[in-house]
Amino acid sequence: MKIAIIGGTGDIGEGLALRLAQQNDVIIGSREAAKAQEAADGYNKLLKERGMRDGIRGMSNEEAAKNAEVVILAVRYQFAVPTVQALINAGALKDQIVITPIVPMSKQKLCSFTPAAQYGSATKECSAALPEGVRLVSTFQSLPAPRLADLDDKLGFDVIVCADDEEAKKTAMKLAEQLGDIRALDGGTLAEAGLIESLTPLLINLAIKNKTKPLSIKFV
Ligand SMILES: NC(=O)c1ccc[n+]([C@@H]2O[C@H](COP(=O)([O-])OP(=O)(O)OC[C@H]3O[C@@H](n4cnc5c(N)ncnc54)[C@H](OP(=O)(O)O)[C@@H]3O)[C@@H](O)[C@H]2O)c1
Repeated sequence: MKIAIIGGTGDIGEGLALRLAQQNDVIIGSREAAKAQEAADGYNKLLKERGMRDGIRGMSNEEAAKNAEVVILAVRYQFAVPTVQALINAGALKDQIVITPIVPMSKQKLCSFTPAAQYGSATKECSAALPEGVRLVSTFQSLPAPRLADLDDKLGFDVIVCADDEEAKKTAMKLAEQLGDIRALDGGTLAEAGLIESLTPLLINLAIKNKTKPLSIKFV
């Protein structure tokens, strides 16, 4: 599939790009095309050195989305709606599958879950901002960026996927399982997405309090 990672120059963008590039055509998006190209060059170098499939491209966020079937919104919560708006204004979002891994969270000593009260989740807030025809999927919130970017890490996690559109959900579940030793679990509709978003501050707090490496989830 053709996948654009909006804000793919950042922390979670790196691991998603490296891993998804093994079976897909990945485009890194950035607010600056040159920064995206630089990131893509770096990711390709790393993949080449390991003898893995490369070919990641870098473009502006808008061009990346225009060229993709699946658009991953890898920006922080406070930039999510403005970023979606910029993509819409550029005519870059029409009928793609859009994936949100976004977690509304604040961090002091520990983390808190902080979605806007009127929506209850970043997913619902993004959904309200997206045009009709775009199919939104909420997933990947529980994947720690440093572990994704470490290609020696087999992961061994469960990933929960929420969507209203069943075909879009299946596509995202397939992509989740391409990331490594991952079992994708159906978490229900977008209305349930707040539940999976709220796991991330818990996982980070557990890692801080128990001095572990970044944690994810596995249901048994
Ligand atoms: N980090 C994790 O472990 C992790 C795990 C699960 C989910 N998530 C979620 O994934 C999303 C991305 O997290 P991250 O840690 O990868 O974020 P990040 O590294 O802080 O930022 C990602 C990218 O956002 C872009 N950006 C910065 N300021 C912006 C602005 N004002 N407007 C638009 N874009 C801006 C930057 O790209 P350019 O400067 O190139 O445009 C940056 O590389 C978050 O919503 C987070 O909750 C993160």
